[in-house]
Amino acid sequence: MDSSFLNADIHIILNDICCGAGHVDDLFPFFLRHAKQIFPMLDCMDDLRKISDLRLPPNWYPEARAIQRRIVFHAGPTNSGKTHHAIQRYLAAKSGIYCGPLKLLAHEIFQKSNDASVPCDLVTGEERVLVDQEGRQAAHVACTVEMCSVTTPYEVAVIDEIQMIKDPARGWAWTRALLGLSAEEVHICGEAAAIDLVTELMYSTGEEVEVRNYKRLTPITVLDYALESLDNLRPGDCIVCFNKNDIYSLSRQIEARGLECAVIYGSLPPGTKLTQAKKFNDPDDPCKILVATDAIGMGLNLSIKRIIFNSLIKPSINEKGEKEMDAITTSQALQISGRAGRFSSVFKEGEVTTMHRDDLVLLKEILNRSVPPIETAGLHPTAEQIEMFAYHLPDATLSNLIDIFVSLSQVDGLYFVCNVDDFKFLADMIQHIPLNLRVRYVFCTAPINKKQPFVCTSLLKFARQFSRNEPLTFDWLCRHTNWPLVPPKNIKDLVHLEAVHDVFDLYLWLSYRFMDMFPDASLVRDIQKELDNIIQIGVRNITTLIRASQATSVSGAIAVPDDFPLQRTEVNDRMLNLEDLPAANQGQFSSATKVPGQKRIRGSKALGYRPAEVKSNMKSQRQGSLAAKLVREGLLTQEMLKQLEREWQVHHNNNGNFPTGKRDDQNGSKGTGNKK
Ligand SMILES: Nc1ncnc2c1ncn2[C@@H]1O[C@H](COP(=O)(O)OP(=O)(O)OP(=O)(O)O)[C@@H](O)[C@H]1O
Ligand SMILES: [Mg+2]
Repeated sequence: MDSSFLNADIHIILNDICCGAGHVDDLFPFFLRHAKQIFPMLDCMDDLRKISDLRLPPNWYPEARAIQRRIVFHAGPTNSGKTHHAIQRYLAAKSGIYCGPLKLLAHEIFQKSNDASVPCDLVTGEERVLVDQEGRQAAHVACTVEMCSVTTPYEVAVIDEIQMIKDPARGWAWTRALLGLSAEEVHICGEAAAIDLVTELMYSTGEEVEVRNYKRLTPITVLDYALESLDNLRPGDCIVCFNKNDIYSLSRQIEARGLECAVIYGSLPPGTKLTQAKKFNDPDDPCKILVATDAIGMGLNLSIKRIIFNSLIKPSINEKGEKEMDAITTSQALQISGRAGRFSSVFKEGEVTTMHRDDLVLLKEILNRSVPPIETAGLHPTAEQIEMFAYHLPDATLSNLIDIFVSLSQVDGLYFVCNVDDFKFLADMIQHIPLNLRVRYVFCTAPINKKQPFVCTSLLKFARQFSRNEPLTFDWLCRHTNWPLVPPKNIKDLVHLEAVHDVFDLYLWLSYRFMDMFPDASLVRDIQKELDNIIQIGVRNITTLIRASQATSVSGAIAVPDDFPLQRTEVNDRMLNLEDLPAANQGQFSSATKVPGQKRIRGSKALGYRPAEVKSNMKSQRQGSLAAKLVREGLLTQEMLKQLEREWQVHHNNNGNFPTGKRDDQNGSKGTGNKK
């Protein structure tokens, strides 16, 4: 009643209520006026609900709905010839499209097709290769699934690894391909766990699914003993780790035993991965051991006899976008194990085991579980839908628009809305830069790893330059990345070079969307190839780099920036990058302990079991400081940290008084000398 801010009319109403002359309901119009000011969408709720109605995705693809498609599902375990059979049909057709989960897989089919004299183009987020000399499109195309055209007609379409339709970040791309490809025959390859969902989705489009089941072409055995010591390694062994520091540490220990090893992890450039794979596969090369992350889980053809799980705990992102430390799923364990004893390799029988004896029981248990059927398919708001939202809510930020969209969206029980946290992260990062909505949307769908500060700051710089309408030239990019660069001297250098490679990827990705503003794609492609070679030199000498890094670090451990997948949008081989955790080894925590920070250990508790890696990683995670977390999340750069350190130092030197005006005012009379 004493408020001087309230209008006279509300004062009167309040007064009436206090005197018993009015009813509390009389306040409702004032409440409503206020609510609409705070939540402007209340005024256009009906329109917004209509726009965000995602209940009939099949209707979004008129070209596909105009034809009757034949749907064939090739189901079976890994290495059972699913992709092979689908590709036979693709090669025999007059026109075809292959949609794969990774750039490397798209490359493989591109090569296979052209080798079989079926001219085939390649389309990934960062690359378009037209085989025709005059630049005409070939009748066949191999692409990453996010890039497939839903308006071009084809005779045969192949959608590989359909189980990815459940992926919290990328699932929408498989849903779009499945519902939208305009092909007379659609061949779907993947785990049998997706059969029911695909059948139901096709029921809604009025299409029947013909299922072809396959059996594994070569036997695979889970051994009764763990490796226990690297002294027991044999030619054809592949050790699978879920963090990069383990890769470094293991390759160093293997080298100390006089053995050569190849190294493959997600953030390596494709060329480097292929060279390492070739070295390992080459029967004449002395390198017979592979140390890899589960980046090998899909795609590369490797001559592996035995898969050895160094650990069974893997960081993952749940539906809510939270990071968790979980035992790997049965599907993941099968995918990775399935790399041993490939039909096309010299090893016709595969073996699987663990590094630690403790883990073997869990591995067997995981592999013996049945894979639960996949129940829902991912969806993602389109640029058009967000634009319509922006029309109704012109003052909302892109990140807010996405939030409102997701909260209002209605989906059918067969679908879920994919995780948009990474999109929002980028939207918030570039919010202050003036860009039109469509451009802003495209920048936010760029497939970058937000855990790499250099890549994030590059996106920011690209956006700023773009907003000034200044083309991003080759010279500008060279200045920004300090190109030319030299081979790495230690692991930190190597990690930086990988980030620069990603920045070049980002440039190329944007160049296909904004050709005028990113005019020098071919020059960038050239230096990216050079950089791939430089990284290859580094990886070839990785143990030397590790030694150099250990020599300069106090603890001897190598701390590299977090390499966790951005799991979203255009896809690529980075999708299976792994989180890097410090490689401490002495933790003594009980299972299912809530990890400080946001990580949670699941799986181990459910099994009443404590795998070796859980024990060893718990303590190391406790050491993850807030600063490290902010750097990992790209919110702070190393430079900012240094600046903070300097400011903190000044603060301490000044008897704990912050050198700010406020503090000065408070302490000025006490003569702290802090008078800035
Ligand atoms: N009938 C066949 N003739 C010749 N080679 C084959 C045949 N079937 C499969 N292969 C080869 O065996 C290997 C495994 O087959 P393919 O990649 O099709 O398996 P997949 O079931 O798709 O496995 P994944 O689930 O791991 O993708 C490939 O190198 C493929 O070329
Ligand atoms: Mg396959």
